[in-house]
Amino acid sequence: MVLKLGFIGAGTVGTALAVRLSQQGYPVIAIHDLYPASAERFAGAVKGSKIYDRAQDVADIADFIFITTPDDFIAQVAAEVSWHAGQMVAHCSGAASTDVLAPARERGARVGCLHPLQTFASLEQAIENVPGSLFAIEAEEPVLSVLKEMATALKGTWLELTAEDKALYHAAACIACNYFYTLVSVASDLWQNWGKSSDEAIRAMLPMLHGALNNLKEVGLPKGATGPILRGDLVTIRKHLAALEKKAPDVLPLYKMMGTWTIPLALGKGTIDQQRAGELRELLK
Ligand SMILES: NC(=O)c1ccc[n+]([C@@H]2O[C@H](COP(=O)([O-])OP(=O)(O)OC[C@H]3O[C@@H](n4cnc5c(N)ncnc54)[C@H](OP(=O)(O)O)[C@@H]3O)[C@@H](O)[C@H]2O)c1
Repeated sequence: MVLKLGFIGAGTVGTALAVRLSQQGYPVIAIHDLYPASAERFAGAVKGSKIYDRAQDVADIADFIFITTPDDFIAQVAAEVSWHAGQMVAHCSGAASTDVLAPARERGARVGCLHPLQTFASLEQAIENVPGSLFAIEAEEPVLSVLKEMATALKGTWLELTAEDKALYHAAACIACNYFYTLVSVASDLWQNWGKSSDEAIRAMLPMLHGALNNLKEVGLPKGATGPILRGDLVTIRKHLAALEKKAPDVLPLYKMMGTWTIPLALGKGTIDQQRAGELRELLK
């Protein structure tokens, strides 16, 4: 049986998923969003989809419904709609589990979540980046099998998680992706000390950041890691600490904490011994 898909929430993720699933032959027939302009953008991008004024209309007509609202509204939508037995309902949150879909499950629907491990800042970029992503799936059958098929159709891979894994899985994604931005932001602000804006700093650092990502891809961890901690260079670390203390004391705790978390990489790469690791730890206390 060909499943007819419906979406509640026509934001970045819902629209990008619908565009790509539709291109892979999944019939996307219905969309509802509180904001008419978002629904119109969705319907313009997804051939064959029709706009409905109520979430209930989408649930009445589709076999498989994605709730792609912001996380805070998933439970509310799940509770407000009258689902029927045999229907399938999924959301795309990384942190929330299928627990938020309990009202749908209680009414006989089967539930799941499909989280693209990606960062989507705009719709165009999301449509571009969805294919080939890893999709974290937490679901009961038959939703589990359907979501695995969708991940494969989107030329991606999938990872099956339990409800209990979800929050930690999402924290890991947040550390690797979102806090990477935080680190670049802190570093680029330091460039104001020699009269360069944050934008200029980012442009200047981009080739180095691309190089770091390439190293990560080509040689991985810990081999790709570089820098004074990896070299066990106490003299340079002391200079960094003194400069930060003078010019940016609020950054010192972050620098010391990140430095301390870098010591195991140096030990793993074999570029420092335990004695040097201890000296570095002492310096970064
Ligand atoms: N963005 C990412 O990088 C990313 C990555 C992976 C997963 N996700 C997950 O994907 C899901 C959607 O995120 P998103 O980034 O696509 O959010 P988004 O761009 O903010 O889109 C959500 C859409 O849902 C609409 N909406 C809000 N409440 C609604 C309701 N009760 N009924 C119908 N529509 C409603 C919003 O309308 P208004 O604009 O009027 O509020 C908005 O158009 C979330 O669970 C998120 O955690 C996001």
